[in-house]
Amino acid sequence: MHIDLSGRTAFITGAAGEGIGRATAELMLESGARVAITDRGASRTPRVTAELRERFGDAVAGWVLDVADRPRADAVIAEAVERFGPIEILVNNAGINVLGDAHALTPEEWDAVIDVNLNAPWYLSRAVLPAMRARRRGVIVNVGSVAAYASDALARGPYAASKAGLESLTRTIAGESGPFDVRCVGVHPGIISTPWMQERIASAQLKDSPALERLGRPEEVAQLIVFLASDAASYITGETITIGGGFKMRP
Ligand code: NAI
Repeated sequence: MHIDLSGRTAFITGAAGEGIGRATAELMLESGARVAITDRGASRTPRVTAELRERFGDAVAGWVLDVADRPRADAVIAEAVERFGPIEILVNNAGINVLGDAHALTPEEWDAVIDVNLNAPWYLSRAVLPAMRARRRGVIVNVGSVAAYASDALARGPYAASKAGLESLTRTIAGESGPFDVRCVGVHPGIISTPWMQERIASAQLKDSPALERLGRPEEVAQLIVFLASDAASYITGETITIGGGFKMRP
């Protein structure tokens, strides 16, 4: 199946790392979209944007954005719209984790995870939805985690709660904006090979392992996100699809 995103404008958070966000940005650019790269990394955002501009030219631009900074988010969305036109695909990818038992976390640790993983996707969706609904065109893809429904060593506390909340938000937006031809979908990655995960996975005492006996690659999750954002998935909304190689399979 050939996925064509020609003429679409995508806005991706956490897109300048070494994981799912960046892989999604690259695949969307390869599929013909214009892509706004946003990430909190002050040095890696311009570096990754410059690397992608060498391959994709003016189809890509980058902004430093901490998604928990609402005034900055408003400003960056306005600049991206001015640059590329209305945002038709929003990928809420930026996510953080904090490890520790719920009773031992500080309020600041708890709030920081909820702010980035749940509050920011809501705020960014709120910012782009009016134009999507008015134009009857738009898809929001939320990057969740199997932690939303299955607790494990690296998947609990505010991280798990935020991803469960995000799955719920996905259904809310899908229900409210479906009548305006706007879709909202999610993905629940299992264990994906990123630097953060590689550092911790070897020593983590997990209760489960992938049936495919390997970690996932960011590109594999990107393929699912790009599919869901495209017209090939025109009748899928409100669902969050697990991509875990058989890790935390749902009944
Ligand atoms: P990644 O290595 O691509 O890092 C994500 C990027 O998000 C980094 O560049 C980081 O700078 C950026 N970021 C972090 N906080 C931010 C903030 N406040 N504002 C803007 N950017 C911010 O990471 P990865 O692992 O691919 O994660 C992407 C998403 O996938 C996250 O939502 C994560 O929770 C989710 N996920 C990842 C899994 C994995 O095994 N790697 C498993 C399940 C879910």
